[in-house]
Amino acid sequence: MSGVGDVTNSGGGSAARRAGKPTLAVVGATGAVGTVMLGILSERADVWGEIRLIASPRSAGRKLTVRGEQVEVVALSEEAFEGVDVAMFDVPDEVSAQWAPIAASKGAVAVDNSGAFRMDPNVPLVVPEVNAHAARVRPRGIISNPNCTTLSMIVAMGALHAEFGLSELIVSSYQAVSGAGKEGVDTLREQLVKVAGTELGTQPGDVRRAVGDTGPFPGPMALNVVPFAGSLKEDGWTSEELKVRNESRKILGLPGLRVTATCVRVPVITTHSLTVHARFENEVTVAAAHEILASAPGVVLCDNPAKGEFPTPADVVGTDPTWVGRVRRSMDDPNALELFVCGDNLRKGAALNTAQIAEVVAAELTGVA
Ligand SMILES: NC(=O)c1ccc[n+]([C@@H]2O[C@H](COP(=O)([O-])OP(=O)(O)OC[C@H]3O[C@@H](n4cnc5c(N)ncnc54)[C@H](OP(=O)(O)O)[C@@H]3O)[C@@H](O)[C@H]2O)c1
Repeated sequence: MSGVGDVTNSGGGSAARRAGKPTLAVVGATGAVGTVMLGILSERADVWGEIRLIASPRSAGRKLTVRGEQVEVVALSEEAFEGVDVAMFDVPDEVSAQWAPIAASKGAVAVDNSGAFRMDPNVPLVVPEVNAHAARVRPRGIISNPNCTTLSMIVAMGALHAEFGLSELIVSSYQAVSGAGKEGVDTLREQLVKVAGTELGTQPGDVRRAVGDTGPFPGPMALNVVPFAGSLKEDGWTSEELKVRNESRKILGLPGLRVTATCVRVPVITTHSLTVHARFENEVTVAAAHEILASAPGVVLCDNPAKGEFPTPADVVGTDPTWVGRVRRSMDDPNALELFVCGDNLRKGAALNTAQIAEVVAAELTGVA
C-alpha cells in the first residue's frame, strides 16, 4: 500500500495511524457530489491512508476539509495518480471517460460516478447491498456507480427479488432538482422566491411567465411537475428512463427483466421518490414483503398509513438508507406489489454508494474481504 504522498495532509499522529492503509483519490472533490463525498468520508469508518483531493486546474491550491483536516486540492494530471490505490471520479462524463482509464493504467482501481462506463460489459455496475461480488471482476480496472434514480429504489428491489424473483418493474419517478446539479437547485430556489406570496397557479401560463428562465428544466419547477428528466432518446423515451431500465437489468443480473419507467421532475431540492409496481415469479404477501424489507441492509421500512407514517423526501433527505412505505399487494395480481420508495439522490444515489464500493475494494486490497 502506498504511504502518505507529497500532498498537504496535516494532522498530528494521523500519518502513523494511517500507515499501511490504501491511498484514495477523490477526483471532482469540489463539485456537488464531491462535497457530499468529503462529508461521508469524514463520517464513515476510516479505512483510508492518504486521501488526495483532485479537481480542475481552476481549483488547484484550494483547501478543503476531510476527516477534520485541511487538504490541498491538486489539478488533475497523470502524476496526481502516483501511488493511488482507489480513485473515485465525481466529474462530468467526458472527464471520466478520458481519465478513469488513465488512473487504472497507473494501477488504481477507478470507481466512477458518471455515466461514461455504466453499460460497458467489461465494467461492473455495483450496489454493494445487491451485487458486491461483481466489484471483483473488473477487466478494465474500472467499477461504475449506477445513476441516482435507479439507486434510489434498487436496494429495496434487490431484497424483494432475492425472495420472490422479480419479473417486471413499472415505475414512475418524482425526481429532485439537485439531480440536475447546482444549477438545478439554484433554478428552483430562484423560482420559489418569484412565486412566494402570490396568487399564481390559477391561470394557464401564469407561473411560466412569472418565473421566466426555466434553467436546465423544460418547464417551470415552482408550483409544477415536469414529465421529462434527462435528454430525449428514440421513440419518445428519455435518457433517464432508459438508464432505469438498462441499469436495473445489469445490477440485478436479469437481462430480460421487463422495465418501464416514466421520469418526472418535482419541486423537491434533494431526494428522489418512486412509485413501483413490481411483479414477481411467485405469489407475494404484504406481511412477507414487510419482513424482508424490515431486515434488508440499507432499507428502512416506514409503513403505517393509519398513523400517517410513510416516507417523504422532506423527512428522508440527508439520510443514508432507502426508505419504503405504502406497501400493498396489487388488487388484480397476487404476484405484484405496489410501493413508494425514497432515497437521497446525493447520498445513496451518488456519493454514499461510491464510498461503499471503494470500501469493498479497500477491504479486498488489504485482505480483509
Ligand atoms: N447530482 C447528482 O444527483 C448526481 C448523482 C449521481 C451521479 N452524478 C454524477 O456525478 C458527476 C459529478 O456531478 P456533480 O453534480 O457533482 O457535478 P459538478 O457539481 O458540476 O462538479 C463537477 C466536478 O468535476 C470537476 N471537473 C470538471 N471538469 C473537470 C476537468 N476538466 N478536470 C478535472 N476536474 C473537472 C469540477 O472541478 P472544478 O470545481 O475545479 O471545476 C468539480 O469538482 C457527474 O458525472 C454526474 O452525472 C450526479
